[in-house]
Amino acid sequence: MARLEGKHALITGGTSGIGLETARQFLAEGAEVAITGRSLDGLDRAKSDLGSGVLTFRSDASDIDDQERLAGELKRAWPAIDILMCNAASAAQLPIEDWTPERFDALIATNLKGPFFLIKSLLSLFSRRSSIILIGSISAMIGHRHSGGYGASKAGLLALACGLSYELKDRGIRVNGISPGPIVTNALKAFGPEVEAALHEEFRNQVPIKRLGQAVEVAKAAVYLASDESAFTVAQVMRVDGGLGKVAVD
Ligand SMILES: NC(=O)c1ccc[n+]([C@@H]2O[C@H](COP(=O)([O-])OP(=O)(O)OC[C@H]3O[C@@H](n4cnc5c(N)ncnc54)[C@H](OP(=O)(O)O)[C@@H]3O)[C@@H](O)[C@H]2O)c1
Repeated sequence: MARLEGKHALITGGTSGIGLETARQFLAEGAEVAITGRSLDGLDRAKSDLGSGVLTFRSDASDIDDQERLAGELKRAWPAIDILMCNAASAAQLPIEDWTPERFDALIATNLKGPFFLIKSLLSLFSRRSSIILIGSISAMIGHRHSGGYGASKAGLLALACGLSYELKDRGIRVNGISPGPIVTNALKAFGPEVEAALHEEFRNQVPIKRLGQAVEVAKAAVYLASDESAFTVAQVMRVDGGLGKVAVD
C-alpha cells in the first residue's frame, strides 16, 4: 500500500522547489494534496504539473487573515487534515546594516508568525494521527554571510517542534522539523545567473560530500516524517545537508 494512502496534506509554498517536489512525492504515495503560493500563475503551473486533483490556494504565509481563510476553505473541502508542511518562507539575507524594523517584521511574519497561526487555525481539522513538518534551514545552526535574521527566524520555527509537540501530543499531533542544507531550487534565481552560479560553487565547496542537494532528497525525508512509519519520531529536526557542520571538509 502507498505510504500516505487516505491522508490529506497541505504544503505551504508548494509551487516551486522543495514544496513542489514534496507535493509530487506525497501524491505518488497516495495522499490528497493542497498547496499554497502567492502567485496565481505559479499555482496554475503547479496544478498543470501535478494534476487537476491538487487543490491550490492563493495565500500569503505572512498574512494571519489569509491563514484563517485558508483553514476555513480546507475545512469545507476536507473531512480532516493529517499532514501540514510549513515550507513557504522568505529567504531574505542581508547585512545587519540593511535590516529595518519593517523588513525584520516581514521576515518573522512569513517564517515564524504565519506558520504558528496557520497551525492554530487548523487545530480543529487535524486528525488524531497528524504530522506537522516545519522546514527550517542549516542557517539556524551555522552562521554564514548575512544569515543573522533568516537564521534566527528558522531557529524560532524549528523550536516549535518541541513546544508544540508537547502541547499537541494528547491530540495525536507530532511536530518535527527538516533542516535542509544548500538545495538546488529557484530560491537563488532572483540574484541572476552569475551570482547564482558563484553561490552554488561556494556552497558546493562547503558541503563535506562536495555537492548540492536536490529537492527530491528533502521531499523523501518529508514523506517519512509525514507517514505513520515515523510515529515514534517526535520533536526532532532531521538534517538533510550533506553533513554540513558535522563532518570536516577536505
Ligand atoms: N533551497 C535551499 O537551499 C534551502 C536551504 C535551506 C532551507 N530552505 C527552505 O526550504 C523552503 C523552500 O525553499 P525553496 O528553495 O524550495 O524555495 P523556492 O523554490 O523559491 O520556492 C518557494 C515557494 O514558497 C512560496 N512562497 C514564498 N513566499 C511565500 C509567502 N509569503 N506565502 C506563501 N508562499 C510563499 C513560493 O511561491 P510564491 O512566490 O508564488 O509565493 C514557492 O512556491 C523554505 O522554507 C526555505 O527557507 C531552502
